[in-house]
Amino acid sequence: MEDKTDAILDIAKRRGFFWQNSLIHGAMAGFYDYAHLGTLLKNKWQDLWREYFLGLDDNFYEMSVCHIMPEHVFKASGHLASFVDPVVRCKKCGNTERADHIIEDALKENFEGASLEKMTEIIKEHNIRCPKCKGPLEETGILNMMFPINVGTGEEVRKGYLSPETAQGAYINFKLEFECLRRKLPMGLAIVGKAYRNEISPRNVLIRMREFTQAELQIFFDPDTITEHPKFYEVENYVLRVFPAVNRESGKIEEVPAKEVVKRLGMPKFYVYHMAKIQQFYIEKLRLPRELFRFRQLTDEEKAFYNKYHWDIELNLESLGGFKEVAGLHYRTDHDLAGHQAVSGESQEVNIDGKKFIPHVLELSFGVDRNVYALFELALVEEKVGEEQRSVLKFPKIVSPQDAGILPLVNKDGLPEKAREIQALLKEHGFVVFYDQSGSIGRRYRRIDEIGVAAGITVDYDSLQHNDVTLRDRDSMKQVRVKISELPGVLKRFLNGEELESLGKPLKHD
Ligand code: GAP
Repeated sequence: MEDKTDAILDIAKRRGFFWQNSLIHGAMAGFYDYAHLGTLLKNKWQDLWREYFLGLDDNFYEMSVCHIMPEHVFKASGHLASFVDPVVRCKKCGNTERADHIIEDALKENFEGASLEKMTEIIKEHNIRCPKCKGPLEETGILNMMFPINVGTGEEVRKGYLSPETAQGAYINFKLEFECLRRKLPMGLAIVGKAYRNEISPRNVLIRMREFTQAELQIFFDPDTITEHPKFYEVENYVLRVFPAVNRESGKIEEVPAKEVVKRLGMPKFYVYHMAKIQQFYIEKLRLPRELFRFRQLTDEEKAFYNKYHWDIELNLESLGGFKEVAGLHYRTDHDLAGHQAVSGESQEVNIDGKKFIPHVLELSFGVDRNVYALFELALVEEKVGEEQRSVLKFPKIVSPQDAGILPLVNKDGLPEKAREIQALLKEHGFVVFYDQSGSIGRRYRRIDEIGVAAGITVDYDSLQHNDVTLRDRDSMKQVRVKISELPGVLKRFLNGEELESLGKPLKHD
């Protein structure tokens, strides 16, 4: 499995998307840099995430917070005591590995969340040895995953940690924002930022990193309203793809209307409404095939220590041998705010119309890098076109790193000037476009296909006479003729997924 993700990393590196950090000095495992195209892709995904999830309610806002926070924050959140991974050490060479990972590698079965005793027992029973030297392994223990940090010097020194999730930034600021935002619930605070975890075995490129980006939305609400959502009626018949914990043996993914998830699976409406919105983000906004998507319910042993309800959002990725978590929907109750109140002595209660309580939190938590990795893998296509082989990155158009390449058919007779005019027009409308005049038009199409540019816009002699251009779809290679004056509107509709044929006069394609 490892070689498939390495093969993807190799392509990502060659095409300018991402690679390991500090390569010239000997890279550390679990750290990656985004190159120019990867950065555009990541930014597009983040912008879409912001627009979509902050758009769910008028009382949802974004914050930017510090990444280093004092020790007390993580005492309050429970991370100091409970943010641990199961580890085993080799008795012979001292190599330390994540216990569930080496069991999974040996038995091809997921053991995340199993007890330490269980893992020790499985290792013994199957005689699993150190992957480095084949030596015997010690009993399974635990290791805290946070990066400690000393802040200040001498007498002034204070212990802090690099934050292992963006979420705590929203909790420690809850009361201040609640006061500024006129004391209304539900209130949403979103943070797109870095998280740091000293993973014992970082692996699979952007899937398990030590420094990564999360996009998280914390929704603070009155726990008495969890069985309702004012807009539930909009999604009640929307069919969710769910993999309940009771189906683990059979492996059956079910298609269940939202209202049945409430009735049959016992999830509250407030929770299920957000399940529907998350699935719509992947299937309607990003237009991923629905069979690649599922919600996986975690068992009590697997749930994060702060969660009462916990379903992960998973995408089926070939390089990882099946469904892999890219996000989670967490009902964290008042775990965090009550913890901050207890440790700081500062009340986190609100008073709404005389009712005093600590709000509960529903958390929508997305790993940005995992989503970028998934989009990259799903986009990679090799196909035959006539006698030729075509390499193309078929990203969802709405998050393609670049929207269009502007290509003059020839490098003379006023065509470059016309193409530059169109480039300026589209830039003015906020599109990410570039100009390319070198090589034959066929070669230029292949080049833009390889880096996943959504459209090719070709300027030819007719463009000078009729003020129109050819718009070519990267995925189907179909082409239509479009008036230059209409191009910004047409390109927007094209990126939002409208059929090419409805956008202009069809032409014979390459
Ligand atoms: N605030 C809740 C939280 O952090 P999590 O399940 O630990 O929950 C949320 O992480 C998401 O962050 C995951 O669904 C995953 O997409 C991403 N993530 C977690 N650990 C990661 C790692 N080591 N490398 C890359 N992404 C990671």
